[in-house]
Amino acid sequence: MDIKKVDSFDGIDLYRLSDGSSFAEIITYGARIHKLCVPDRFGDLQDVILGFDDPFEYKGNNPYFNAVVGRVANRIGGAKFTLDGKEYNLSKNERGNQLHGGFEGFDRKNFTAQILSDGLELSYVSKDGEEGYPSELCAKVKYSFENNALKIEYNAFTDGKTHCNLTNHAYFNLNGDFSPVTNHVFKIKSLMLTDIDSELIPNGKFEDITNTVLDLRQGRILSDCLKVKNNRLLDIGGGFDFNYIFTNNVDSVCSAWSPKSGILMKVYTDRPCVQFYSGNFLDGTVKGKAVFHKHTGFALETQGFPNACNIPHFPTTVLEKGQIFHSETIYAFEIK
Ligand code: GLA
Repeated sequence: MDIKKVDSFDGIDLYRLSDGSSFAEIITYGARIHKLCVPDRFGDLQDVILGFDDPFEYKGNNPYFNAVVGRVANRIGGAKFTLDGKEYNLSKNERGNQLHGGFEGFDRKNFTAQILSDGLELSYVSKDGEEGYPSELCAKVKYSFENNALKIEYNAFTDGKTHCNLTNHAYFNLNGDFSPVTNHVFKIKSLMLTDIDSELIPNGKFEDITNTVLDLRQGRILSDCLKVKNNRLLDIGGGFDFNYIFTNNVDSVCSAWSPKSGILMKVYTDRPCVQFYSGNFLDGTVKGKAVFHKHTGFALETQGFPNACNIPHFPTTVLEKGQIFHSETIYAFEIK
């Protein structure tokens, strides 16, 4: 792996991590992935990440394109939680709730980059009270890229007590031409979702999906699933926008495959869940590398349980002073 700073503008730096002809480009703004170029079945490089042509355009309107999301990914119902008897009110950036860390979450912060021998480390210190969260949180995200696999390592620590649930909101499209991902085959090793209310907030219930259209253990073509009528959850999400709880994560936990390019992406993680989002809110208003219409990208956001700060029986996302939050996710590409 070779790591180089290749561009810089207005305080935002662009780094390239290459391995042979394949490469990943990362910017300091939101610790975002700008490009991820891997070979298709003809050996041609394809960029499998949505985004802009110009790496400095991410400051404009876009739905968390390929950014590190924090402090707490996904939705927090009522934008509040109670910790040690004290109620904390967070910024409400989606109706009365908080989505993906607030108005200026980690996706909107410029990280400090450092080239290490085994990756590119991006750090950000979130102040006590930022977006309503208690205590200071120092987050470090390390990207490395080898053998067509992008590895993301997260480390975080706090000076008090807070919640921490970091992810990356990469939007993938494995077709190579940004045509809809409805032709992709998705596989997720899971039998259970966290149920949601009409505002997509996890309500604490679990939904057994065994042998339903949402059961992706054997792999399903997205368009076949979206055709199904009167599925309560698909109707709420307007497509897939669900937190899958992994049944077993000794091997890859989920995958996506494009029959067009032959590119197969396998996801490995130590996180207990993944948010599978089929780009339902993309509506053609964001124009970048292409015009991004509904279902022209998908996300597989590895994460802890969403809204865990309000659901006592979910595994906790509390981070205490002296503890280190550590997690790893690998997006690995091959041809099938
Ligand atoms: C996540 C959520 C979606 C949506 C996108 C951003 O994937 O689960 O509901 O908010 O982020 O548009």
